[in-house]
Amino acid sequence: MGPGQIPPRGVGRGWGCIVTEVERRAALDAIGAEVSACTRCRLHETRTKAVPGEGTSESEVIFVGEGPGYNEDKQGRPFVGQAGTLLTELLGVIGWSRDVVFITNVVKCRPPENRDPEADEIAACAPFLTRQLAALDPALVVTLGRFSMGRFNPGARISQVHGTVRRADSESGASNALTFSMYHPAAALHQQSLRETLFLDMEGIPAALLAARKMRAAGVGDADLPERPRAATLITSVETAPEVSQVGQNVRADAESDPTDQLPLF
Ligand code: URA
Repeated sequence: MGPGQIPPRGVGRGWGCIVTEVERRAALDAIGAEVSACTRCRLHETRTKAVPGEGTSESEVIFVGEGPGYNEDKQGRPFVGQAGTLLTELLGVIGWSRDVVFITNVVKCRPPENRDPEADEIAACAPFLTRQLAALDPALVVTLGRFSMGRFNPGARISQVHGTVRRADSESGASNALTFSMYHPAAALHQQSLRETLFLDMEGIPAALLAARKMRAAGVGDADLPERPRAATLITSVETAPEVSQVGQNVRADAESDPTDQLPLF
């Protein structure tokens, strides 16, 4: 396995996988087929193609954006426009490619004129993301933008939590995962300072994945987390959130302090 590769599912997890990759893939494909034919909300009336998401069923990491834009709507694939180019560049920072993760969105059809998705549209689409999460059972959910963050960390503010690790909300469908919040790449296209923040935040993802693996290896259920994952500062409420820069330092410093942590990833 080369540098920066995510190891195959099961490596470094410390718990048995009873679902086969064939079953995971089949589940994701079935969800994709349903999404493509979905008429649950008004967004189907104006879409060209629905965008279920894409990536490997073997990944422990899912990236969740907001909703398809112009190019995604034409191609039926997530993050293929300018924001997608930036996302691919960001993944390169940690030696990953799109092929080693799964990428999807909160809403699977393009909101007209790229407006924000509305609450009823998000609600109508929510079961698809829930089922994708159940099929993938990710260790780490990377949220891109505030709509995605709102699904996994309701009430959090992106300016306060970007670049940090949190436990996914129990209602999110990813209750055995950690979340890592990032600004949306599209927001950085015209704002240089956000672009720099995104690149800096990206560097925290490997440590966040290690923290998620440790949490899962400990067999910790959603209700009975005995202690916070050691490798990262886990924030459970905005009130207790340390300064963002401090969190980033903690994540990286702790991961570096245990050389065995580095083995699976690098
Ligand atoms: N923005 C998103 O949130 N998702 C995409 O797929 C593309 C742009």
